[in-house]
Amino acid sequence: MEEQGWTQVVAAATRAPSIHNTQPWRFVATPDRLEVFFDRDRALPVLDPTGRQQVISCGSAVEFAVVALSAAGYDGEVDLLTDDGDPDHLASIEVTGTRPATDEDRALAAAIGQRHTVRAPFQPRAVPPELVDRLQQEARLHDTWVKPITRSEEEVATVFLISRAEEMEQGDPAYREELERWMRTDPTAVDGVPVEAVPSDDPHTRPSNWLIRDFVVGQREQHAFLPPGDPDAPPPEVERPTVVLLGTAGDDRFAWLQAGRALGRLLLVATATGLAASPLTQALDWPATRTRMQSRLSLVGHPQMLLRMGYPPDTSTGAVSGRRPVADVLRFEPAGS
Ligand SMILES: Cc1cc2nc3c(=O)[nH]c(=O)nc-3n(C[C@H](O)[C@H](O)[C@H](O)COP(=O)(O)O)c2cc1C
Repeated sequence: MEEQGWTQVVAAATRAPSIHNTQPWRFVATPDRLEVFFDRDRALPVLDPTGRQQVISCGSAVEFAVVALSAAGYDGEVDLLTDDGDPDHLASIEVTGTRPATDEDRALAAAIGQRHTVRAPFQPRAVPPELVDRLQQEARLHDTWVKPITRSEEEVATVFLISRAEEMEQGDPAYREELERWMRTDPTAVDGVPVEAVPSDDPHTRPSNWLIRDFVVGQREQHAFLPPGDPDAPPPEVERPTVVLLGTAGDDRFAWLQAGRALGRLLLVATATGLAASPLTQALDWPATRTRMQSRLSLVGHPQMLLRMGYPPDTSTGAVSGRRPVADVLRFEPAGS
C-alpha cells in the first residue's frame, strides 16, 4: 500500500475513542503492514496504572484501521501482541490481498467520521433488542461478551458502584490533577477532552440513574440563585439509556486489545444505525469497585467497559474532540524493515 493509503487508514484509526482522549498510540507503516504501538509517554498513571483502558483504546484504533482498510478494498490480517519481545508492540495488521469493498464496509467506514462520544441525555426511545443482539454477535467475533444491564438489582448495584467510584475519584487530589491536565478549553486542541464535549451542569442533578463522569475539576458554577421553574411543569423525563457491560474471559493485554476491538466494532455498528454512546467507566477504574462489580453481578470473566447507549438528542450531538495530526503518530519504513 502507498504512503498516501496508509495515511488515510491511520487518520481513520486515530478517530477511535480513547480514555481522556489521550490517543496513546503510534504507528509504523511498511508497504504491506501497519504496526501499532502503545505510547507510554501518554500514560495516565493515576487513573489507569496498568494501562488497561489505554490498551482498550488502542484496540479500538486497530479495529478502526481494519474497517478503513476493508472500505479501501484491502483484506487485513491482524496479529495481536506479536512475539517480538516488545510488550508495547500491540498489533500488526498485514495486507493480505485486495477485494471489492461491500456496502457494509463502506457504511462502517462512514461511521468512523460520524461517531463521537455523546454525554447529553438520550431520547426516551429504547434501543431495539435485535440491535443489542447484533452488537453481542459483533463483540463475540473478538471473544468479548456484551451483557445488557436490565435486571433491576443489577442496575442498582452498578449505579451504586459508579457513584461510589466517582466519589472516591473526586476525593483524590492526584486523580483531579491528572484529569485537569487532559481537559481542554482551546477548541483547536489536538488531544484531551474539550470542555464543550461535557455537559456543564452537575451530573448529580440530571434526571438519570446513570452518573456520567464529572469532568469539571474544582469550582462549578452555582445555580442556587436561579428563579424557581414553573411549579405546574411536569418533572423532567428520566433518561432510560440501554447500558451494556463488555467483558472478557482473561484480563491481560491480549484480552484488553480484544475488548478494544469489540468496542470499536460495536460503536461503528451502533453509529451506522443512528445510535450514540458514552462510556461510564468510573466503577472499572478502581480495583475495589471493579472486583465488587464482578461479584455483585456474578460475572464470569472480567468487566472491561460500561457503555450507555441510546438515540442522541435532535439538537446536540456533542462536540467533536481533537486529534493529533497523522504525521505526529505515523512513521514510514521501507519494505522488510
Ligand atoms: C477505555 C475508555 C474509557 C472511557 N471512559 C469514559 C468515561 O468514564 N466517561 C466519559 O464520559 N467518557 C469516557 N470515554 C470516552 C473518551 O473520553 C472519548 O473517547 C475521548 O474524549 C474522545 O472523544 P470521542 O469519543 O468523542 O472521539 C472513555 C473512552 C475509552 C476508550
